[in-house]
Amino acid sequence: MKSLISINDFNKEEMLHVLDLAEKYEAEPNCPIFNDKVIACIFFEPSTRTRLSFEAAASRLGARVIGFASLAATSIAKGESLKDTIKMVSNYADMIVMRHHLDGAARYASEIAGCPVINAGDGANQHPTQTLLDMYSIRKTQGTLENMSITMVGDLKYGRTVHSLLQAMSHFNPRFHFVSCPELAIPAEYRHFLDSRNIPYTEHHTLEGQISNTDILYMTRIQQERFQDPMEYERVKNLMSLDASMLTDTKPNLRILHPLPRIKEIATNVDDRPEAYYFEQARNGVFTRMGIFTYLMNQ
Ligand code: CP
Repeated sequence: MKSLISINDFNKEEMLHVLDLAEKYEAEPNCPIFNDKVIACIFFEPSTRTRLSFEAAASRLGARVIGFASLAATSIAKGESLKDTIKMVSNYADMIVMRHHLDGAARYASEIAGCPVINAGDGANQHPTQTLLDMYSIRKTQGTLENMSITMVGDLKYGRTVHSLLQAMSHFNPRFHFVSCPELAIPAEYRHFLDSRNIPYTEHHTLEGQISNTDILYMTRIQQERFQDPMEYERVKNLMSLDASMLTDTKPNLRILHPLPRIKEIATNVDDRPEAYYFEQARNGVFTRMGIFTYLMNQ
């Protein structure tokens, strides 16, 4: 029984295996191999892409899906603990997909559940399945995961997709450029992680001058829901944004990724540019999550 809580739960070979499965599923998306399985998608935090693409992935594999999309619809609203809730859900399902607002909640659930747990995002900590679909998108658009110059922009402090992705890409000899205001800089633990692996990175406070040598421009939303002080969010919310006029002098292979949802950090005039890849990236989530289900069910 294997769970996926942090991207570090998978080694390089396991990640590549999931990407290969995703490629197979993109070519043949209807494979009802799990029609004897029930998958619980339990989301304590809002989601559009992650929940629906997990449900689509389960459906395309023939599994039945149960679950809920908000805490208000559960007996937690009546005072039941997370521990008891997870025990109940694992009575009913063969695998649990869980999103929660607290860092560490998915790991806690995996220690209680009698079935594997997939972390669909826990607080500002990790979003490993987003990372695998990001990697799938990088490999699909670049032909390789090796030697990428990756510029990560926006909320690098609370952005869990950034944290998971930089750890995963550390297996593939990347160079990182981090662009954020000082308040939302990449946390020290991730800088130490990169230092310990001799992975080069630079930090910047403006996107100007950072795009021309980039292969992957990874834009992120400012995570309003993680701010203690609403005024602090107001002050930083529009500091980093990408406009089509900034996409001159770019590498021909440049692709713009964003885990979505976007607010104002990518202007809509970027959407029709050939570099814009964020909507296809979200579509890749279905195939990647089919690959994740398949790998974990077979452990
Ligand atoms: N990328 C992502 O996690 O999007 P949702 O919040 O819509 O699931």
